[in-house]
Amino acid sequence: MVRTTKSAPQVLSLSNNSQRMVTLIPRASWWLTLLLCAGVAGYALWVYGTMPIGVEVHPDMQAAFERNAPAVYSHIFASSIALILGPFQFSTRLRKRLPDLHRWMGRIYLLAGIFVGGLAGLYIARFAYGGLVTSVGFSALAIAWLFTGAMAYLSIRNRDVIAHRRWMIRNFSLTFAAVTLRIYLAMFFAAKVEFGVFYPLLAWLCWVPNLLVAEWLFNDRLLKRG
Ligand code: HEM
Repeated sequence: MVRTTKSAPQVLSLSNNSQRMVTLIPRASWWLTLLLCAGVAGYALWVYGTMPIGVEVHPDMQAAFERNAPAVYSHIFASSIALILGPFQFSTRLRKRLPDLHRWMGRIYLLAGIFVGGLAGLYIARFAYGGLVTSVGFSALAIAWLFTGAMAYLSIRNRDVIAHRRWMIRNFSLTFAAVTLRIYLAMFFAAKVEFGVFYPLLAWLCWVPNLLVAEWLFNDRLLKRG
C-alpha cells in the first residue's frame, strides 16, 4: 500500500517531465528553423538590397548575375518571402488562433514566394556556375519546388487537409535548401575544398537529403499517427 502511494506521484511527475520534453523539442526546433530562415533571408535582402549585384559571389557568377539582373533580383526577393513566411505556416498555435492569417500568409508564400521565386530560379539555373551538373540540380529543385507548391494548393482547394500538410512539409523542406546550401558551403570552405569542385555537388546536396528527411521523419510519422 505504502509503496503504491509513494510511487504514484513519482510516475506522475516523470510523465509530466517527458510530456514537457515532447513539447519543448519541437518548439526549440521551430525557433531554430525560424532563426536560420530569417538569418539567410535577412542577409540576402541586405546584400542584394544595398550592394551592387553579386558582390559576394564568384566573379563568373557575378558576371552572369549582371547580365540577368531582373531574374536574379526576382528570385532572391521572392524566395526570401517564402523563407520568412514558411516557418509561421507550421505554427499550430497561429493556425488555430488566426486561421485567416494562415490563409493569407499561405497565399503570399505560394504565389509571391514559390511561384515567382521558383520560376525565376528555374530561369537562372540555366547559367548557374559549374556547368550542366549544377544547372540540372538547381532546375530539378525549382521544378520540385513549383510542383510541391501546386500540389499543396490543389489539395487544400479540395479540402484535403492531411494531403495539404504533407505537400507543405515537402515544399518547405525544399525552401529550406537555401539554409542547408549555406551551411554546406561554409563546411566546404572550412575544409578548404575548391569551390569549382564542390559547387555542382551542392546543387543536389542542398535539397535531396532535405526531401528524404521530410518524407521519413515527418510524413512517415504523420502516416503512422493516422
Ligand atoms: C528552393 C528553390 C530554389 C532554387 C531552385 C534556387 C536556385 C538558385 C540558382 C540557380 C541560383 C544561381 C546560382 C548560380 O548562379 O550558380 C540561386 C542563387 C541565389 N539564391 Fe536561390 N534557389 C532557391 C531558393 C532560394 C531561397 C529560398 C532563397 C532565399 C534567400 C534563395 C536565395 C538565393 C540567393 C541570395 C542567391 C545568390 C547567390 C548568393 O548570393 O548566395 N534561393 N538560386
